[in-house]
Amino acid sequence: METVVSGIRPTGNLHLGNYFGAVRNFLKMQNDYNCYFFIADYHSLTTHPTPEDLHGNVRQVLAEYLAAGLDPEKATIYIQSDLPEVAELTLLLNMNAYLGELERTTSFKDKARQQPDNVNAGLLTYPVLMAADIIIHHAQKVPVGKDQEQNLEMTRKFAARFNRIYNREYFPIPQPFNFGEALIKIPGLDGSGKMGKSEGNGLYLIDEPAVIRKKVMKAVTDTGPTEPNSEVSESVNNLFTIMSVVSKPETLDFFKEQYANCSIRYGDLKKQLAEDIIIFTEPIREKIKAIYADEVYLQKVVNMGKEKAHASASKTIREVRELIGFRSF
Ligand code: TYM
Repeated sequence: METVVSGIRPTGNLHLGNYFGAVRNFLKMQNDYNCYFFIADYHSLTTHPTPEDLHGNVRQVLAEYLAAGLDPEKATIYIQSDLPEVAELTLLLNMNAYLGELERTTSFKDKARQQPDNVNAGLLTYPVLMAADIIIHHAQKVPVGKDQEQNLEMTRKFAARFNRIYNREYFPIPQPFNFGEALIKIPGLDGSGKMGKSEGNGLYLIDEPAVIRKKVMKAVTDTGPTEPNSEVSESVNNLFTIMSVVSKPETLDFFKEQYANCSIRYGDLKKQLAEDIIIFTEPIREKIKAIYADEVYLQKVVNMGKEKAHASASKTIREVRELIGFRSF
């Protein structure tokens, strides 16, 4: 059975980008693959959360994972920092990760621009930690959104390099994965770019209906089509993209046709979109609150995940140490 690994940083609540880019695939994959889904709390340290925020965020994302339908009986669900083997593998991989290639990574350049006062070494070696997360379980598939494509490329490179240096096909070369084939990018409501936690343009699974309506009604659009069949602007196309994942296909077709014949009213489009998002998120939101409050259940899930993930990771570390040449006397 093929192995799957994926993670999400606990730097805020899950938004529709996380759900449709990643979690939706987790839900399908947990039935047929050997799955490891984790909360990337080591990664979140690059932004320096306070200890209280860190713990609260991990708990919140765990509750959201479970409320969205991840099943701890089917998948191994764990907290990254419960697996110190990942930190050891990162250190070992770092010896063959080069400054030039790390500096050229788009995500590093973006972060260095966004937080110029905090360009820490963790940001630079972020793709190495991510590679360790993935290959420590010998993953073949990694369900992620399009924004993680380059990080995955780095993982593939580091895995292949390790195999070459130690002259063994030890790590599989993992593939980014989406059931719909192409990796997807869910846009934000601000007219351009992706939906993200730090972009302030997100629709969250936890958002109350009133909040969703308000955000969607304020979404950026254009001044409207002026001639039939004109090209759809980026901002309106973004709303169509969100509609394509939360609404019925005929709803999307209806508004696209209205755009094409210039009869579209953006107020109507937004009202429909907001209601469809509410219908989609409402059942998950109710579950998040109940699960978040159930400390005993959360503790049970975390302990179970830790044990299963540890079994897999410690075997890899033992073998890697042997391959590298750390041998007992
Ligand atoms: P993170 O926490 O930013 O996002 C978690 C997952 O959500 C996807 N995603 C999106 N997909 C489509 N459209 C969007 N607008 C959108 N925003 C986020 C991301 O692609 C990701 O799949 N580095 C990772 C976490 C990580 C990881 C790993 C992932 C650490 N180790 C190992 C996979 C395997 C990150 O920051 O994702």
